[in-house]
Amino acid sequence: MAGRMLRSQVRSSMRVAARALKISVAIGLGSLAAGAAFAQQPQLTPNPQRGQVLSYTCLGCHGIQGYRNAYPDYAVPRLRGQNEQYIISALHDYQSGQRDYPTMRMQAMSLSDQDIVDIAAYFAGKPLVAASTAPKRPVPAAAAVCTSCHGKDGIAVAPMYPDLAGQHASYLTRAIQEYHNKDRKNPIMDSMAASLTRSQIAVIVDYFSTLAPGLRTEPRPFFSWTDRQQPSKASD
Ligand code: HEC
Ligand code: HEC
Repeated sequence: MAGRMLRSQVRSSMRVAARALKISVAIGLGSLAAGAAFAQQPQLTPNPQRGQVLSYTCLGCHGIQGYRNAYPDYAVPRLRGQNEQYIISALHDYQSGQRDYPTMRMQAMSLSDQDIVDIAAYFAGKPLVAASTAPKRPVPAAAAVCTSCHGKDGIAVAPMYPDLAGQHASYLTRAIQEYHNKDRKNPIMDSMAASLTRSQIAVIVDYFSTLAPGLRTEPRPFFSWTDRQQPSKASD
């Protein structure tokens, strides 16, 4: 009798605990920015090998060193080493139209959530790690505020922020100008870029784009010579 009571008490307290857990999970998810919509989906296990196969078409642009977007003219962003979570959120933003770029929207529309997770794992590869021996350059005053999220080494302090180290200068300039003009909408970055002057943008871009270790162009299969490491400036 006592045993049965105990068991039913245990069961009901477990139900309470489960409910509390569900609620706290719901609150936790709800409080994440809407931009992190992928977090609300069931956890998908990334398969980078599958990602490599799927990303073959992507390499037609992202796998060619110095490949440029024609109008406007800027280098296609480097993806090798970029944060996995950031790549996932970027692809979801293209899908939803939150990030407005027709070619990438078309590319992203053809991908399932599993495809996106796999592709992101493939491009991310090993996360960038700052070299402990590298001589530290002083952070220019204009870039100081940026380093609280994007890191002094251009390696983001959290995985939902993009790494900027070694990214093409022309792409960084374009991205910052887009935030500045509110053509690319992001509550954090729109306010960060709002008051930047042209010359501040130039100083910031020069700092982050020339940091090493940094992002690289994903080598295209059978064309690995295209990934010969060049200073970012050369291809910009
Ligand atoms: C026709 C050329 C082209 C192809 C093919 C292409 N991309 Fe892109 N991609 C671009 C350009 C140009 C941009 C920059 C767009 C912008 O300014 O928002 C971009 C941006 C991105 C970004 C955002 C990078 C960042 O730093 O924010 C990701 C992620 C991305 N592409 C992934 C992919 C994937 C995955 C595929 C294949 C499914 C792909 N791309 C195919 C041209 C291309
Ligand atoms: C509070 C954190 C935070 C700070 C501080 C911050 N950023 Fe960002 N940054 C972000 C986030 C989040 C994104 C991704 C936004 C999106 O998805 O469009 C981003 C994106 C970017 C991108 C686009 C990268 C890409 O691959 O497309 C650039 C460039 C950038 N930031 C530059 C800067 C600069 C320059 C500063 C300082 C003036 C700065 N950021 C300050 C959080 C921050």
